[in-house]
Amino acid sequence: MDGINFDSVLKELQTELKPYDSAESNLSKMPEKGVGEEALLDILSKFAIKENTSWRQGKVSGAVYYGDEPLLTFYEKLYHIVSQTNALHPDIWPSIPKFEREIVAMSSSLMNGGDGVRGAVSSGGTESILLAMKTYRDYFKKIKGIVEPEIILPSTAHPSFLKACEYFSIKPVIIGTDEGFMANVEMAKEKVNANTIGIVGSVPNFPFGTFDPIEELAEIAEDKNVGMHVDACLGGFIDPFVRDSGYRFKKFDFSVEGVTSISMDTHKYGYAPKGTSVVLYRDGEYFRNQIYANASWQGGIYFTPTLLGSRPGYPIVAAWAAMLLLGREGYRKEAKKILDTGDFIKKSIKSISGVKLAGDPLWVIATLSDEMDPYLIWEAMTKKGWMLNGLSNPAGFHIALTHRHTLDGVKEKFVDDIESSVNDVRNGKVKSSSMAPIYGMASALPKESTDVFLKSVVEWLYSQ
Ligand SMILES: Cc1ncc(COP(=O)(O)O)c(C=O)c1O
Repeated sequence: MDGINFDSVLKELQTELKPYDSAESNLSKMPEKGVGEEALLDILSKFAIKENTSWRQGKVSGAVYYGDEPLLTFYEKLYHIVSQTNALHPDIWPSIPKFEREIVAMSSSLMNGGDGVRGAVSSGGTESILLAMKTYRDYFKKIKGIVEPEIILPSTAHPSFLKACEYFSIKPVIIGTDEGFMANVEMAKEKVNANTIGIVGSVPNFPFGTFDPIEELAEIAEDKNVGMHVDACLGGFIDPFVRDSGYRFKKFDFSVEGVTSISMDTHKYGYAPKGTSVVLYRDGEYFRNQIYANASWQGGIYFTPTLLGSRPGYPIVAAWAAMLLLGREGYRKEAKKILDTGDFIKKSIKSISGVKLAGDPLWVIATLSDEMDPYLIWEAMTKKGWMLNGLSNPAGFHIALTHRHTLDGVKEKFVDDIESSVNDVRNGKVKSSSMAPIYGMASALPKESTDVFLKSVVEWLYSQ
């Protein structure tokens, strides 16, 4: 690859992604004799001590959305009761689809859904999005005979939409964003054609935490009779409480005519353990196209509402229990704390010379700079123990605020560290950034070649 040395990139990534690699610690075959329970717990505890410190201290962007000990202990108790359940067998465990129906109903009530809303619990945001895209493809094939489907995606939409396009042979039609990092409505209007199956908007998007204008996009969708998917994977459990928390907010959910589906992640700000998200459709006609059913298999009657076959019941139970444990009141309180923390950080960043915010976000906050290389600030923050997300086009980095950042002293420390990092960069104390060449390459070279490059890195990660 031009301008970038694969080996030097791998060397940088080695310490970060394969820190335990050494001949003696890597298993290459199954041991003949089993290892004792104590020894296994000991091995895991050693990794946990190293890996659980940063997020506990609130130094990680996103990733762990709650993480307080009492809730984790409660989840352990649930696991003990339901560890063997499998949603694939509703005859053995009919409580699992009951919990799923209730999760769908509770989520729909947060999204102002009517009685007709149908949906399912998937394994995460990506699966919910894959399902919605496959559903639109099949629905519009039936309704309008579209065989070369296209979906309109803001450039800020999560990569899982492009993954869906790759998996399900849908053509992505990328539209840009305006100066506020929100989907460009005019471009969306121009790009709709006879093959369009849907328009996507995010509330908020991952890179900049900005909110696409759902009402405007949905109006186009309704007018052209195409689907409108709202990606509330990040925002689904905060957005409903933004107004109550005293912040300005536009309509984004089923109360907007034209919104036909919504994804919202219970395993993010729903505070459930990893492994669940909800996909909702305005009516059952869409949902019907998500279901796989086979009544003539030699192995008997087979059906799945989502992509997977066997589905552990535990994450579903835990998501259901989280929603009941917190109730609207609990989510409202958490949302307020996170939004107030975002407000503090936004105001503080605005007052630091040399950096600026991307758009007008609420709690996923991206920092950019006209004065210096933001990747150097990001590097200086990494040296101070922060694990933030790098952004490209434009270069920058973000923090997705969670419950961890609402703990005492964390937001003040973040702002102090940004300020001193900016000064360090300005005074020439930060010379290079380990990730900058990779991000620089991503923005300078054609997408196809950088994607191939990244695939080689992934192959390296998954080889012994
Ligand atoms: C806006 C948005 N959509 C979708 C996803 C995908 O979610 P998951 O990682 O659970 O598959 C994410 C993940 O961060 C996201 O931020």
